[in-house]
Amino acid sequence: MSVLPIVKYPNEILEVECEKVTTFDRKLSKLIKDMYDTMLEADGVGLAAPQVGIAKQIAIVDIGDESGLIELINPVILERRGEQVGPEGCLSFPDLFGEVTRNDYVKVRAQNRRGKTYIIEAREFLARAIQHEIDHLHGILFTSKVNRFYEEGEIEG
Ligand code: CO
Repeated sequence: MSVLPIVKYPNEILEVECEKVTTFDRKLSKLIKDMYDTMLEADGVGLAAPQVGIAKQIAIVDIGDESGLIELINPVILERRGEQVGPEGCLSFPDLFGEVTRNDYVKVRAQNRRGKTYIIEAREFLARAIQHEIDHLHGILFTSKVNRFYEEGEIEG
């Protein structure tokens, strides 16, 4: 198990367009495992490669439901519908939470660590987490989408 240091805002790598992954090798598998360990250690539900200093289109999501670990490599949102408004945070912004409007449903095409292409449909909180992580891969941070920031203690952990 390897827990990687998480890049905190401000840092240039958090705001760049990440490169597509073209090589699906053991190094990629190791990175995804390390990202997973890092996310669990930080008590997060998602993590994107730029947050561990790698500007590639790799992100993981695990909201702790039956979907398990979702590997988002080169993800593309094919469809988006509806609207949800809710609280959001980010491991690169410790102790910062804001209300963000997201689509309530997304259909995403992505690859897993073996390079297999798959389609995932998600709703509600899972859809929110996936949209947040995909934004990271394009250098977009949740703070640019916040309707309002919460005061300390306004959200129950
Ligand atoms: Co984030």
